[in-house]
Amino acid sequence: MEKKYYIETYGCQMNVHDSEKMSGLLSGLGYTASENEFDADLVLINTCSVREKAAQKVFTRLGQLKTLKKGKPDLILGVCGCLAQQEGDRFLTGRPYVDLVFGPKNTGELPQLLQTIHKERRQLLALSGPRQEPTFEVETVLRESSIKAYITIMEGCDKFCTFCVVPFLRGREISREPRSILEEARKLADHGFVEICLLGQNVNSYRHEGFDFADLLSSLHEIPGIQRIRYTSPHPSDINEKVMNLYGSLDKLCNHLHLPLQAGSNSVLARMKRDYTRETYLEKVDYLRKRSSTIALSTDIIVGFPGETNEDFECTMQMIREVQYASVFSFKYSQRPHTAALKMEDDVCEEEKSERLMRLQNLQREIQLKLNASLVGTVQEVLVEHGSKKDERVASGRTSCNRVVNFDAPALPAGTLIQVRIENAGPNSLSGVLST
Ligand code: 5AD
Ligand code: SF4
Repeated sequence: MEKKYYIETYGCQMNVHDSEKMSGLLSGLGYTASENEFDADLVLINTCSVREKAAQKVFTRLGQLKTLKKGKPDLILGVCGCLAQQEGDRFLTGRPYVDLVFGPKNTGELPQLLQTIHKERRQLLALSGPRQEPTFEVETVLRESSIKAYITIMEGCDKFCTFCVVPFLRGREISREPRSILEEARKLADHGFVEICLLGQNVNSYRHEGFDFADLLSSLHEIPGIQRIRYTSPHPSDINEKVMNLYGSLDKLCNHLHLPLQAGSNSVLARMKRDYTRETYLEKVDYLRKRSSTIALSTDIIVGFPGETNEDFECTMQMIREVQYASVFSFKYSQRPHTAALKMEDDVCEEEKSERLMRLQNLQREIQLKLNASLVGTVQEVLVEHGSKKDERVASGRTSCNRVVNFDAPALPAGTLIQVRIENAGPNSLSGVLST
C-alpha cells in the first residue's frame, strides 16, 4: 500500500526549503503527501528555535502527536530542524514515541535514516558538527510553487549577534559552489520557474574561491527564462557597494531588500554586537535609494532587548519613521540557549515588551497604509502567482517591490507578468485592474 507523509514546518524560508527537499526525497522513496497528520505513515516536525514562542509550540505539538501515535503504533514520528539540533537526544529520552531526531544539515540523510528505522526499530539521532557540509543538493525538490523557487546558496552564520541562536545550530558559514547554484537555476528555468530567491543566513558573506555574492547575482542574471531574482538576508554592515550598485543596473534584480535593523539605538546595537550604527545603516539606505529611488525596504526589529530604555525604543520608532519600511517583522526579545545575551539581565518586563511591540506595529501600519495609498493610480508590473482563495474571479501576484496585488483576471496562468492599474490600497495589499 502507498505510504503517506506529512511535514509540518516552523520558522524561516530555510526551513520551508528544507521541507521541500525532504518532500522530494520522500517522493523518491514512493511516499505521497498527506493533507494532515491523521492519514500519514510518517510525520516530520521541522522546528525553529529562533524565539522561545516558536520552540514552545513544538513541545505542545509533540504532546498531541503522542496521543495520535497511541492509536497508531506504526506511525513514524521525526523531529528535525534547528530545535532538533539544539535539543538532540533530549528529544528522545523520556519520549519513546519519537523515532527520529536529525539536524538541518542532515536533511539529505533522511532516506538512509528511514531505512535503518524500518530495519532496526529503534530511536535514531543524526546531528552534524558545526563545520559539516550541509545538504545543498538533493535529486528532486518538491517545491510549493511551480513558478517561484528557493535556492540555498550558503549555510550557517559567523556573526554571533548576542541574541541569536542560529550560529550555534546551523554552524559556520559554508558557501555552495557557484557551478552547482547556476546549474540548479538553469534547470529551474527549463522547468518554467520564473522567479528565484537565494537563501542564506548572511548572503553578503557568500564567497567561493574569489567569486562573491555580486558575481553570483550577475551570473544568475544571464540565465534566460529567469525573470526575477530575490535574496534573503543580507547583513547591514556587510552589504557592500559592489552589491548595491547592481540595483538599477540588473533589471531582473527585484526592487526590494530585506535589511534587518533589529534596533534603532546605537547602545542597543552595540550590545547586540551588530557592527553598525544607525548612522552607517542610514548611509546604506541613502546609497540604495540613490541607485533605485523606489526600492522597497523591509526589516526585522526586536523590542525589549536587555537594557532597552524608553529612549532607546524611541530611537527605533524614529528609525522606522525615517526609513519608511514597506514592511516590518517585529518580535519581543526572548532569551535563547548558548547566546551571549543570556548573561545580560532580561530586564524589560513582558507588559513593557508587549506595549512597545503594539506601538511599533501601529506606527508601521500607518506607514504601510500611506506608502501603499501613494501607489493608487500607478501601473505596476505584477507576476501572477495564483487565484484568490476567497473569490475565484480574483487572482493575485506580487510587484517587484514584493507588494501583494489582487486583480480580476481568472484566466491568467501563474508565472505571467502583467500590468495592473492600482485602484485600492490597504496596509498589506493593493488591488486593481488589468492595464492595456
Ligand atoms: N528574541 C527575539 N527575536 C529574535 N530574533 C532572533 N533572535 C531573537 C531573540 N532571541 C529575530 C531577529 C531575526 C529574526 C529572524 O528573528 O529579528 O532577524
Ligand atoms: Fe528558525 Fe533561524 Fe533556524 Fe530558520 S535559521 S529555522 S528562523 S532558528
